[in-house]
Amino acid sequence: MNSKKAIAVMASGRGSNLKVILESVAAGACPVDVRLVISDKADAEALQIARAAGVAHVVWMNPKDYQDRAQFDAACADLIDHHGCQWIVLAGYMRILSSFFVRRFPQRIINIHPSILPSFAGARAVEDALSYGVKVSGCTVHLVDEVLDGGSILAQAIVPVLDHDTRESLHVRIQKEEHQLYPKTLTRMVEQGFKIDGRSVIWLS
Ligand code: GAR
Repeated sequence: MNSKKAIAVMASGRGSNLKVILESVAAGACPVDVRLVISDKADAEALQIARAAGVAHVVWMNPKDYQDRAQFDAACADLIDHHGCQWIVLAGYMRILSSFFVRRFPQRIINIHPSILPSFAGARAVEDALSYGVKVSGCTVHLVDEVLDGGSILAQAIVPVLDHDTRESLHVRIQKEEHQLYPKTLTRMVEQGFKIDGRSVIWLS
């Protein structure tokens, strides 16, 4: 029997963060079992990546099959529990989670966001950082609570913002950091553990 911590990954798009997590797991560097991948988009590349990697349960959940967000989230939550997943890793999951879902999994949902939070929360983080004119940006791995992109911060990495950057060029630079930071942070969560003091994450040794 597999005793590694089972996780569910939720992704809506390209799935590059899912891919690096799966690669890190396959290389023996990240001691988790990616047991379930859920996407809300039928054509998400993340679904193909998960299938190609042999993830046991790869599921497209169609929001149109549910009356509202709460029902959709309840179905996702039931699936996650059914497969015994302890953590939920959001990797480019672009639907806002209902409070119900977040409360069902306290301190068990993590997200990666393409800015240095608390600056530039929301779906347009890279564009917003560029139009603000910041000189550094980066990415944040954080716990998910009921405030959008507002949970306690687990890890951050910074990148320079260069003159003439476009949304695409800056996002590429940020994603390079994401691809290091996300598997590394997951590994740290399993191997080291953490406690919460106020808003701060304190890593245990
Ligand atoms: C990542 O850059 C991630 O930070 C961002 O979506 C991208 C997904 O890329 N997430 C958000 O903006 C969440 N608010 P991927 O599908 O290639 O992993």
